[in-house]
Amino acid sequence: MSEKMQYIPIAKPWMGEPEAEAAKRAIMSGWVTQGPEVTAFEQEFAAYVGSKYACAVSNCTTALHLALLAVGVQPGDEVITVSHSYIATANSIRYCGAVPVFVDIEPQTYNINPILIADAISDRTRAILVVHQIGMPCDLKAILDVAHSHNLPVIEDAACAIGSEILWNGQWEKIGKPHGDIACFSFHPRKIISTGDGGMLTTNNPEWDKQFRLWRQHGMSVPDTVRHGAKQVIFESYPMLGYNYRMTDIQAAVGREQLKRLPEIVERRRYLAQQYQEKLADVPGLKLPTEPAWARSNWQSYCVRLPDKCDQVEVMQVMLDAGIATRRGIMCAHREPAYQIEAWSCSTSRETCNCEPGSCQRLTESEQAQDRAIILPLFHHMTEEEQNRVVEELKKACQV
Ligand SMILES: Cc1ncc(COP(=O)(O)O)c(C=O)c1O
Repeated sequence: MSEKMQYIPIAKPWMGEPEAEAAKRAIMSGWVTQGPEVTAFEQEFAAYVGSKYACAVSNCTTALHLALLAVGVQPGDEVITVSHSYIATANSIRYCGAVPVFVDIEPQTYNINPILIADAISDRTRAILVVHQIGMPCDLKAILDVAHSHNLPVIEDAACAIGSEILWNGQWEKIGKPHGDIACFSFHPRKIISTGDGGMLTTNNPEWDKQFRLWRQHGMSVPDTVRHGAKQVIFESYPMLGYNYRMTDIQAAVGREQLKRLPEIVERRRYLAQQYQEKLADVPGLKLPTEPAWARSNWQSYCVRLPDKCDQVEVMQVMLDAGIATRRGIMCAHREPAYQIEAWSCSTSRETCNCEPGSCQRLTESEQAQDRAIILPLFHHMTEEEQNRVVEELKKACQV
């Protein structure tokens, strides 16, 4: 990379004065942890996605943990999910003492293949945890058909999917409405809006929403906000085991500003993704992402599959040498040391998994996606010049 050339990062949050002012407002208010800003953020978030309830928590991993607990996942249960996701998806299942049973993905969308779900269901299956990977909605209609026929709840890992939409009974609806039972979002800085760290659970079930609010604050029967405003002495009690999964008011104040920017962010990302589609259409063997007719991605990430002749690491290194950050395809949890003790996790029959550690004969599409795809830079203020540089360097790197 020449001295003058600007480095192009993989992602960059769009934040500025309004977020700084909002954080200041929370700090100066004297109430900095979960309080009125969190309540307002929850209401605005629920209105945006179209859910009855939204409950803010510390991050999406804790949201997933609470969602699984709410639908009754217990030690020894099985939860059907994908290995091809950030490790938090599978980890949240293990936090419940349950076993993730991995199902392979569809190569075009990088999302769970609904056809394979029925075969993975056993008498220990307690829930299905699907992911809208990198913002692309998964095939919820087909997934819910299988889930309903087995009476199983569906949790949506929507960590990456704020602003994504799905065609539902002829209308475009936001991911998070929710279409399954509970949806979980992340506000980590790699997501399209951020609160530094943060998460949100959406549901239409008032009992679950009540439960989330207790669990996120140690199971405390009377929240501190209520005690603070009370005219009489009240003592709280702790009728259940809870957690400290709170979001702070500083984060929520920032989140409210980010939410205002969201429509513009999604529009811009759709434009940039379309530009990539057009500019990369003529690269021989390069497979571009496809949006099913019933899905509109927020393009949290733009992921391409490399031509067969190209080596993933070499392409990424050529790009890096030219000052352009890329990332490999999404990881596979079953290949990580933390999961290799669990040979059953990739097997549908549990008893007869003969896979080599780190490679599973049932998860070949997941492994291929990790090994053959790369994620290109995409961020709100990406200029045409920057995008052209990414395209040119990728074309050069693919010409080996
Ligand atoms: C699909 C998916 N699920 C869960 C998470 C965890 O989110 P958080 O970092 O907010 O806990 C992530 C974060 O990258 C993710 O991509």
